[in-house]
Amino acid sequence: MDKALLSRTAAAIVATGKGLLAADESAGTCEKRFSSVGVACTEENRRVYRGLLFSTPGVEKFLSGVILFDETLRQKANNGMPYAEYLAARGIIPGIKVDRGLVDLPLAPAGEKVTEGLDGLAKRMKEYFDLGARFAKWRAVITIGAGIPTHACLYANAHALARYAAICQEASIVPIIEPEVLLDGNHSIERCEEVTEAALRACYGALAAYNVSLEHHILKASMVVSGKGNARQAPAAEVAERTLRVLKRTVPGATPGVVFLSGGQADVAATAHLNAMVASGSAPWPLTYSYSRALQNPALTTWRGKETNVKAAQAAFHHRARMNSLASRGKWAKDMEK
Ligand code: 13P
Repeated sequence: MDKALLSRTAAAIVATGKGLLAADESAGTCEKRFSSVGVACTEENRRVYRGLLFSTPGVEKFLSGVILFDETLRQKANNGMPYAEYLAARGIIPGIKVDRGLVDLPLAPAGEKVTEGLDGLAKRMKEYFDLGARFAKWRAVITIGAGIPTHACLYANAHALARYAAICQEASIVPIIEPEVLLDGNHSIERCEEVTEAALRACYGALAAYNVSLEHHILKASMVVSGKGNARQAPAAEVAERTLRVLKRTVPGATPGVVFLSGGQADVAATAHLNAMVASGSAPWPLTYSYSRALQNPALTTWRGKETNVKAAQAAFHHRARMNSLASRGKWAKDMEK
């Protein structure tokens, strides 16, 4: 466990004005995204699309790191460099999604999931380090519904996250802890706040139980928002206030930084919410983005698999990255959107 390296990596992830691009969609998720724009989800198309994002001129000013899928970590850029090396040469830290997805939690109500991937993880982690990855991600998913999440679901997911985090740190890889509370459902923002607080409490309890070093992890949090199907969609100021309240109650001050997922929020809403939190000036940790959809959506719908659209798609990606960079400094305003 190289603590100096872990500290440097964690600090670099949340460097001022920068955030993460999550480009670690599994082949299944990629299939969904690509089919929405009529692109065949082949290995080569996934390589080309990710290359489009990674080679966007100037984007290194806004990206501290990229979360890669195992396949991408083993692929090469058009110039023949492995993607991890290609990104590192641009000053962007390569990261790796190491979980193996969700399964139904046994003996739990329908809809409750737990994340798999711990078996053999220490061995895989050594290989990922050798391939250039310096941080990792594990996503746990918490669904809100009638009678859920149960205590068992929060507990099982928190323990898996903590075991993963310990394995990462031993390999000198910074763990990103991601307990995502889904925005799907009709629930109120109050209910989302309650569940997010319970999920984070469970996580930090488990991190302590497994001796995870708090100075050497990053939290990837979901924002406290109204359920997608709820009639009252809370405004940005309320999202910011509730999210920060929950984080302050649960996240230790030793945490180097908090990054957010976008979770299906509209692109500009995800930017506005981050901006409102940072602009409040009340968070004790750096806050920034680790978005997949809210950074990629306009690029993907512009690209549509056509070489002639690459430049326009890169411009769309650059714009969202720049807007979110501004938000991470609390300096974004709605009239900056095109
Ligand atoms: P979204 O921003 O699309 O939620 O993706 C972020 C992520 O990495 C989810 O695990």
